[in-house]
Amino acid sequence: MKKELADMIEKRRSIYDLGAKEVLSEQQISDIVKEAVKYCPTAFNSQSARVVVLFGESHHKLWDIVLQELKKVAPADGFAKTELKIASFAAGYATILFFEDMETVEALQKKFPLYAENFGKWSLQANGMLEYIVWTALEAEGAGASLQHYNPLIDAAVKQEWRLPESWMLLAQMPVGSVEAPAGEKTFLPIDERVKIFK
Ligand SMILES: Cc1cc2nc3c(=O)[nH]c(=O)nc-3n(C[C@H](O)[C@H](O)[C@H](O)COP(=O)(O)O)c2cc1C
Repeated sequence: MKKELADMIEKRRSIYDLGAKEVLSEQQISDIVKEAVKYCPTAFNSQSARVVVLFGESHHKLWDIVLQELKKVAPADGFAKTELKIASFAAGYATILFFEDMETVEALQKKFPLYAENFGKWSLQANGMLEYIVWTALEAEGAGASLQHYNPLIDAAVKQEWRLPESWMLLAQMPVGSVEAPAGEKTFLPIDERVKIFK
């Protein structure tokens, strides 16, 4: 593997202590997302991923929505801890929302019945690849990010707030900001238990 790619893969981490220092401009973040969406592979080149990038008020609105929706279902006891967690995501300055367009996925299922069962899985796999590319690219450019999943709790409110098509299924939320503290220690299983090589 090229040294730079190996480095980027190793250095990408979940950054939870985010700040609002603009290490990357809105334009730079938007360009990273557009490039990743354009070049990330998809099954049958279906290009079913959809992405919404939120800055400024919209970024804060998203985390308000998460908090409001959580309040409806979480016990009041211990909610202060949840509030702190959500505040840590809002402390960044951008949030990237990852979706799959289910209309595209369903059209493929109809067109290629032989693979019908697989298109749903492939769509999730491809979206994961896209999330990973964006996450790694942001980190390589000096920003911090993590991957959050408040869907499907927030789906309806998000669709309504940004008037998104009904067919867009929300899969992940990625808060982005400056890195205020490095990621914690990470442990690894023995690699030979996870990778088998045969000749
Ligand atoms: C598919 C997937 C789902 C994840 N969901 C969450 C999540 O909901 N919340 C969270 O804080 N981290 C989430 N993570 C981050 C993992 O916990 C993290 O990647 C893992 O512990 C390794 O740490 P690292 O990202 O620093 O390498 C997710 C990661 C993946 C790949």
